[in-house]
Amino acid sequence: TERTFVMVKPDGVQRGLIGEIIARFEDRGLKLVGAKLMRIDQALAEEHYAEHTDKPFFEDLTDFITSGPVLAMVWEGQDAIAQVRTMMGATDPAESAPGTIRGDFGLDMGRNVIHGSDTEPGSAEREIELFFDEEELEDYERIDEAWLYE
Ligand code: GTP
Ligand code: MG
Repeated sequence: TERTFVMVKPDGVQRGLIGEIIARFEDRGLKLVGAKLMRIDQALAEEHYAEHTDKPFFEDLTDFITSGPVLAMVWEGQDAIAQVRTMMGATDPAESAPGTIRGDFGLDMGRNVIHGSDTEPGSAEREIELFFDEEELEDYERIDEAWLYE
């Protein structure tokens, strides 16, 4: 089992998509182990997106991600990092398949509704630690776990 960092971006919060997005992960069988509505400050934005520091879109990206509240979450489950990426769809909503979150709710690269840790080793762990203290994460069993896993 694996944990991944997921965030409803400011556009998703403003558009009232929080419930819909949480429902998709819950329905899939993933387990919510941490969540908070928060505002990302400039320093956290720059650290979270450090890999994009030198990209031409970096300033637009940090301006956007700090522009309103986000819902930061940690989801746990079998192969959670890759499964969440699949459910999110391609980075550019114009290319995301229907049925994915970005493919169903987005049109524009700079307003793509959701973030999920990428599958590079250590990415999810780094992002979880950046946003959550250990005591903010809950260890528990979902009652349906025996029916979700062989
Ligand atoms: P995140 O989950 O947000 O990290 O998206 P991702 O992992 O699918 O994509 P990536 O980490 O490569 O890019 C981070 C974010 O930068 C994307 O979600 C986009 O919002 C934005 N972004 C990436 N590439 C471009 C680009 O070419 N132009 C613009 N305007 N934004 C971009
Ligand atoms: Mg990324």
